[in-house]
Amino acid sequence: MSSYDVIVIGSGPGGYVAAIRCAQLGLKTACVEGRDTLGGTCLNVGCIPSKALLHASHMLHEAEHNFAEMGLKGKSPSVDWKQMQAYKQSTIDTNTKGIEFLFKKNKIDWLKGWGSVPEAGRVKVGDDVHEAKNIIIATGSEAASLPGVEVDEKVVVTSTGALELGKVPKKMVVIGAGVIGLELGSVYSRLGAEVTVVEFLDAITPGMDPEVQKTFQRMLKKQGLEFIMGAAVQKTEASKTKAKVHYKLRKDDSEHVLDADVVLVATGRKPYHDHLDLESLGIRLTKRGQIAITKEWQTDVKGIYAIGDVTEGPMLAHKAEDEGMAVAEVIAGKHGHVNYGVIPGVIYTHPEVANVGETEETLKEAGRAYKVGKFSFMGNARAKANFAGDGFVKILADKETDRILGAHIIGPSAGDLIHEVCVAMEFGASAQDLAMTCHAHPTYSEAVREAALACGDGPIHM
Ligand code: FAD
Ligand code: NAI
Repeated sequence: MSSYDVIVIGSGPGGYVAAIRCAQLGLKTACVEGRDTLGGTCLNVGCIPSKALLHASHMLHEAEHNFAEMGLKGKSPSVDWKQMQAYKQSTIDTNTKGIEFLFKKNKIDWLKGWGSVPEAGRVKVGDDVHEAKNIIIATGSEAASLPGVEVDEKVVVTSTGALELGKVPKKMVVIGAGVIGLELGSVYSRLGAEVTVVEFLDAITPGMDPEVQKTFQRMLKKQGLEFIMGAAVQKTEASKTKAKVHYKLRKDDSEHVLDADVVLVATGRKPYHDHLDLESLGIRLTKRGQIAITKEWQTDVKGIYAIGDVTEGPMLAHKAEDEGMAVAEVIAGKHGHVNYGVIPGVIYTHPEVANVGETEETLKEAGRAYKVGKFSFMGNARAKANFAGDGFVKILADKETDRILGAHIIGPSAGDLIHEVCVAMEFGASAQDLAMTCHAHPTYSEAVREAALACGDGPIHM
């Protein structure tokens, strides 16, 4: 029986980061992974492949829509779907192999197979039982199912099937206007599919700033996506090559049917802990099936921790990574820390959408006095030159203290711009601190500074 200070179950962004940090802190560490490659959902069937397809399809969109105006003439590229898939796969491979390299570098044993925990202090993989002073469960999440909708990953697909379709469909129906639906819906729309998004609520991307929601939906419509809002999908009927999507409009209960070549079901994800038999171990689950943990990521059983998508909180790779580092610090006897108030969210469409901290709605609910500083990318020289003037930066700051409470950006490189606000928030900065910081010209980041200026005496270029 081999014995370890720490065995991590699952090698997604939570698990692999936890394993690396544990090893760096001098703990003898192993990581169990049931897939053939390391990196979890994120590297294999999530963040990385979706971003490769978003990048490739965005390049096509630029060539089709903006090249001629810049004096770049010639035929737009055509889509070689097989090659685009190969590009996506090579992106996955370099990333998953990168984790394998980091494991070797940090002397982390990869225990191949599905792990289970027969009792505290023991992890079973295949026929082997390993001893572990500490166990970290980082088993992630899977697509949630929808009643009446049977997924075959060919015609009716989750994000996993949508990333590897045999061809670009003519008609795609997306169920759910959340992050997955809009990112992958954008990919196929740019590649030539007719994409219709059916959403239960009256606004896309629930929980987001309403002004951003409206602007975002308008921009996506302009790009060719169609939306049916306030519609509850009842069921799908699929043959080998086609499907029908039955939905009911909430406003009048009227029933409708859509035809599709492919239906993407993107109505959320749920925690994954098959193989583990947590209840017989005495580990409590929340009502939503997540593993219940303390502030130090400890489950009800001493020495067993849980992090990432399998626990509460936003299902985001960077949230899982931060928890991975923090739980390793706790196990090593140090102080692990995650600031849940400053976890950015990014949607990698074009333009990107990013947010951090409070929204106006959460501030109103909490009865907090706040001010809003807003700046349009139309006033940003770099954005105008790059056909990216549509969109804005909105900063929310405390009315009395001027402390930054949140930010919402829709526009070019929003996913990168948000981080200067994150750093400012970590340091407890005021909007004025941001506004007084010199920003290079011409950059998109000047729009963030202008929004900070708008919280005070006003922006310059508006
Ligand atoms: P996971 O990445 O799910 O990894 C868990 C791993 O554990 C898996 O490899 C699984 O095989 C393994 N496992 C499970 N049980 C066992 C067991 N018993 N034994 C051995 N191994 C086991 N987030 C972002 O922040 N940015 C994005 O751009 C983004 N894009 C996404 C796009 C898509 C299409 C999807 C589906 C998700 C996306 N996400 C994104 C979410 C992100 O992938 C997850 O939040 C993240 O992967 C969670 O990390 P994790 O370590 O908790 O779990
Ligand atoms: P989501 O929770 O973002 O959106 C699901 C949408 O489906 C909601 O708008 C909901 O109202 C709608 N819906 C639910 N039932 C419905 C029905 N019967 N009919 C019509 N609409 C219905 O879930 P999604 O997009 O599946 O993403 C899952 C998770 O993956 C997210 O929590 C996200 O954090 C993560 N993710 C993150 C990405 C990023 O950070 N860029 C990219 C992709 C996924």
